[in-house]
Order: sequence, then structure tokens, then C-alpha cells
Amino acid sequence: MGRVLVVDDELSMREFLAICLRRAGHEVAVADSGAAAMTLLAATPADIVVTDLRMPGKLDGLGLLRAIRAGGPGPEVILVTAFATADTAIAAMKDGAYDYLTKPFKVDEINAVIGRAMEKRALVAENASLRERVAGRVRMAQLLGRSKPMQTVFELIGKIASTRTNVLITGESGTGKELVARALHTEGSRASSAFVAVNCGAIPEELMESELFGHVKGAFTGAVADRNGLFRDADDGTLFLDEIGELSLGLQVKLLRALQEKRVKPVGGSAEIEVNVRVLAATNRELEAEVARGGFRQDLYYRLNVIEIRLPPLRQRREDVPLLVDHFLRRFARDQNKALSTLTPAAIKRLEDHDFPGNVRELENIIERAVALASGPVIDIADLPVLRTPVTRPGAGAGDIPDDGVDLDRLIADYERAWVQKALDKTGGVRKKAAQLLGITFRSMRYRLEKLGLEKGDAEE
Ligand SMILES: Nc1ncnc2c1ncn2[C@@H]1O[C@H](COP(=O)(O)OP(=O)(O)OP(=O)(O)O)[C@@H](O)[C@H]1O
Ligand SMILES: [Mg+2]
Repeated sequence: MGRVLVVDDELSMREFLAICLRRAGHEVAVADSGAAAMTLLAATPADIVVTDLRMPGKLDGLGLLRAIRAGGPGPEVILVTAFATADTAIAAMKDGAYDYLTKPFKVDEINAVIGRAMEKRALVAENASLRERVAGRVRMAQLLGRSKPMQTVFELIGKIASTRTNVLITGESGTGKELVARALHTEGSRASSAFVAVNCGAIPEELMESELFGHVKGAFTGAVADRNGLFRDADDGTLFLDEIGELSLGLQVKLLRALQEKRVKPVGGSAEIEVNVRVLAATNRELEAEVARGGFRQDLYYRLNVIEIRLPPLRQRREDVPLLVDHFLRRFARDQNKALSTLTPAAIKRLEDHDFPGNVRELENIIERAVALASGPVIDIADLPVLRTPVTRPGAGAGDIPDDGVDLDRLIADYERAWVQKALDKTGGVRKKAAQLLGITFRSMRYRLEKLGLEKGDAEE
């Protein structure tokens, strides 16, 4: 059963068709001209349009058919025609009419045609959603990615966006954790309410409690008025706790309480206030290791980590590099008011081979600089200065900063990698011993190996 629009200038015909179709269980609308039909369709789409071929006015049946087809995949159109004009109706099939009926027709005939047209529509719709699912998207909200790991991330976001489940977003710095948090918000049912983000590492501990839960006037020096706090600012929406690993143990207790009770107590206040907030958290630390070490509460960890979205480092999804390069080229050309440039194949290859310790943010910075510095529309390897920065060896102090600057994240990662490698060499690849040599836990060693891309299938341990 579906929605059918009947178009005929003749009242008796409109009424006859409307009665037949309603009896067959369809929802029916009527229009007395092609123009009136277009107005109705713009307001409420129909599955099927049954229209008389010959009508006075600007739009006859054929005109209406063409207008509907010009607007993309709209309703199926069935033409009603007198025997004398059947040739025109047959010709109209190639303009996209689904079928035609010659007057006079029986009720059975019209029901059969409408039934087939409805079946076709259902098939087309099923196909379209299938195609959408199979082809995958290269973009979700602001997130781009065609690699398998990113497709999996998109799928997961799609599944859980409209739930209230707490999500822990993990991954190295610059992998897009904040964009995932925003995507979970905008793709979900809370999209029209607030998205409130707070960086737990950036706010001094003594201010954090009132920042999160608010305070009442006079609660402490400087509390000159009541303040709601971020939980209440995010009521009905999403609260994103970035760098959750930086939260002090004292506040972890209070946060856990707020999550369990779904209520917050402002500093200096006595009453608890109910909140409806979806909490997302992100960290680039290995929280499980923090839990083992006693720096992060296990109960809070499990509360926050109902579902984990782990973003892979860019070096584990290199096929996303060209897509991201293209995206950043466009963005920075627009921001900097420059003509759109392209990279030479050699430059793209060089980027694809790069390890990106700073992940997508590093790639973004490289392209921003290249667009700013490029003298022409073509960017070559020589225009990618960061990639030419020499690797600093362990023991080497900070050298002079070259004119085109350095990439601190990368220097630090290179430094770390070199020491880890040295330790591994010394212990013949035994990771436990190497960790001892470096004064770190085995867990931390495993984390670093993965982060630095040094992980190999080694046989020992
Ligand atoms: N998949 C992506 N598609 C498009 N842009 C991305 C993607 N991932 C990251 N970016 C961009 O890279 C930059 C870093 O992303 P984001 O701030 O989300 O990373 P992060 O994981 O939160 O990093 P940090 O741990 O350092 O806070 C942002 O400018 C973001 O727009
Ligand atoms: Mg971030």
C-alpha cells in the first residue's frame, strides 16, 4: 500500500479512480491539473502518479511526466489515455512512464498496474539502500576515510550514534578522536542539542569540579554568581571529556558518581540536579596501563569504556593519505585564497611512505605549509619541507632550528624510536629485557612498539 496521486481535469474520472484506489487500501490525493499536481508533489511526495494524458492548461499528462522525471527519481507515472491517443502513451514509455491504461478500463486492470508499480518501487528502494551499505562512505560528518579500518569506525559510529552508551575514543595524537566525538553527536538523535567539549588536561584541578558540576554563589572566593557547569550545559546533548587520563583521582570519584546517578551536585550546593547527558571520553594514553598502575580508577574506566572506538594510526591506513591530501589541499587553497594546487605523483608517494608520528594532524600541517609556500600550482617533494628534517639520533642535543622550522612531535617520536630500537638490539629483540633497560613496564613497551610502528611478529617471550 502506498500513496497515489490522481490527476485528471474531469471530476467524475478523478472520483472513480480515487474510490477504486482507496478501496484497494492506498492513500489517495487528487489534482485537477498538471500544475496543481506539481504543487502537491512538492509538499508531499507520492509513490505513484496516475494522470490523464490530455488535460487543458500548461502541463498536460506528458508535460507532467517530463517534469517529474526531470526532478530525479520521483514517483512512478501511469498515464490514462483514450484509445485514439494510445500511440502517444506508448511513446511516453521512453520518457520514463511506468505504464499506461486505455479508457475504458476495469477496476481489476488499474489495481494490477498499481500493484506492479508499487512492487517496482519497493525493489528500487531496497536496491538503493543495499548499494549504500555495500559501497561504503568515504565521509562521515567531518571524518574522511576509505580504508577498511576507517570504514569499520564509520559503521560503529552509525550503529551507536543514537544510543546513550558511553564511548571511549582511543588512538594516538592527531588520529581524529575529537572528530569521532563530534560525528557521534551530529549523526545521532542528540544532534539538535549542545555538544560540549572539555579538555581535562587544560583546567587546573581546583577549578575542574566547578567547571564540570557548577557551583552556587559564594561557594568559594570568586564565586560571585551561580554557575551551571558543563554537565548541565550539555543537558539533552553530549559532553566530550577529552584527555580523560589527565583527570585527578579525586575528580574521578566525583565523575563516576555523576555517571552512575545521572545527577550532579554543584560545588557548595546541597541539592543534586538530574541531567540527561551522553558522555564521550578520549585519551591518547594507554588507560588500561594507568589502571594497572593505580593512576586511573578501574570502575570509572569500565563505566566510560562501554564501547571503545580505537582509531588506527595513519601509517596503518596509508590508503587514506591521497583522500586526505586532496581534502586539505582544497581547504587550505580556499582559506589562503590561493588557486587549487596538485601534488606530483612523487610527492604523493613520498607522503604515502612517511610514518606520520603526528598522524592526520601532521599531514594537515604539511599540506598547509606546502600550500602557503608553493610558488606555482604544482607541489613537489622539495615543497614538503618537514619531510626533509633530518632524524635526530639519541644523545644528540637540540640543534639549531632551521628556517623552515622543525616538527617537534616527529623529533620526539624519532628520538623515542631510536632508544627503543637500541634497547631491542642490545637484548636481541627480547622485549621484556628491553623494557627493563629503559625503565618502563612491559605493557608500556608494547604500547610504544605499536605506536612507533616497530611491532614485529617476534617469537620470544
Ligand atoms: N579522518 C579524518 N578526516 C579529516 N580530517 C581529519 C581526520 N582525522 C583527523 N583530522 C584532522 O586532523 C586534526 C587532528 O584531529 P583531532 O583533533 O580530532 O585528533 P585527536 O585524535 O583528538 O588528537 P589529540 O590526541 O592530539 O587531541 C584535526 O584538524 C582534524 O580535523
Ligand atoms: Mg583531541
